[in-house]
Amino acid sequence: MRKDLILIASADKNWGLGKDNKLLVRIPEDLKRFAGFTKGNMIIVGRKTLESFKDKKPLPDRINVVLTRDRTYECEGAVIVHDLNDLEKAVEGYKGDVYVCGGQSIYTLLLPFCSKALITRIDAEYDADTRLVNLDSHPEWEKVSEEPWQVSSTGVRFKYVEYQVKENDGNTKAED
Ligand SMILES: NC(=O)c1ccc[n+]([C@@H]2O[C@H](COP(=O)([O-])OP(=O)(O)OC[C@H]3O[C@@H](n4cnc5c(N)ncnc54)[C@H](OP(=O)(O)O)[C@@H]3O)[C@@H](O)[C@H]2O)c1
Repeated sequence: MRKDLILIASADKNWGLGKDNKLLVRIPEDLKRFAGFTKGNMIIVGRKTLESFKDKKPLPDRINVVLTRDRTYECEGAVIVHDLNDLEKAVEGYKGDVYVCGGQSIYTLLLPFCSKALITRIDAEYDADTRLVNLDSHPEWEKVSEEPWQVSSTGVRFKYVEYQVKENDGNTKAED
């Protein structure tokens, strides 16, 4: 499996991701940024996250790869894969960027194959039922840049933080 996948997520103070299969909060500026990064590229999502999208449809203008264990699952316009082997075939040879877009189970599964993480930190604590691993205390990851806090048109305070795998660490373990 290639090891240059890019994790992209928004997380609250406790690294919370979502609740009841929805995002914790709407940050229009962040959604626009997400579209800017991912359009024209490939995204990988879990079946639940796909079903959280508008009309349960794949996001437009990008290749949507969806992980599900359900062999009968169908979704028009998406590439359906059932395990890491299938996923590897779907991403291998793809020339563009491949973004890991959640949810929790997919971030956990694919973190060892990511080299970079684009995190939108939300300056609030929500009642979440899904979480991202804490990259600030992860031994294999380090923060490489951080933008100043900003306030969304919806009043939410947030900032963009970028992490990467430490050199000579982390992804060397995902050799297979
Ligand atoms: N804050 C953010 O940036 C962000 C981004 C994305 C999502 N989210 C939130 O995250 C939450 C959803 O996360 P989640 O963990 O519950 O769901 P998820 O990761 O989106 O999807 C889980 C599903 O993916 C499939 N799957 C997982 N591991 C698999 C594997 N190894 N092989 C094959 N299929 C696999 C299974 O589908 P089947 O059950 O069909 O087998 C599983 O039920 C929602 O609240 C969503 O809004 C937040």
